[in-house]
Amino acid sequence: MAEKSLFCGINRPADPANKTELEKKHTPVIECPDTVKAGEPFQVKIKVGEIPHPNEEGHHIQWVELYSGQNLYARVDLTPVFVQPEVTITVVKGGKHRTSTLRVLERCNLHGTWEATKEITITE
Ligand SMILES: [Fe+2]
Repeated sequence: MAEKSLFCGINRPADPANKTELEKKHTPVIECPDTVKAGEPFQVKIKVGEIPHPNEEGHHIQWVELYSGQNLYARVDLTPVFVQPEVTITVVKGGKHRTSTLRVLERCNLHGTWEATKEITITE
């Protein structure tokens, strides 16, 4: 059964240090280096979530999006059962900014859109 309140806006853990089971299942996990070199490709691994989310026809992750701040870098549509909600995206950052906020959104068909962010440092 869909929880309608979760479809209003973007969900984040209320207390990141003390997540509920629902928050652990839905908050994306972003794995990438803390510091990257400008112009050099690096991998951003995204997993939903820190404990496995159901992956059935009736309850699954529909898509994952990777942003740098407000700029969409990539979107991956997912199919339940056959595809796990884990993606790896190769990113190249320019040298214009010293820091960047990677932002990931994911959508669960029953529990709405969830966000995670990670700050990275860019060196020349
Ligand atoms: Fe869900």
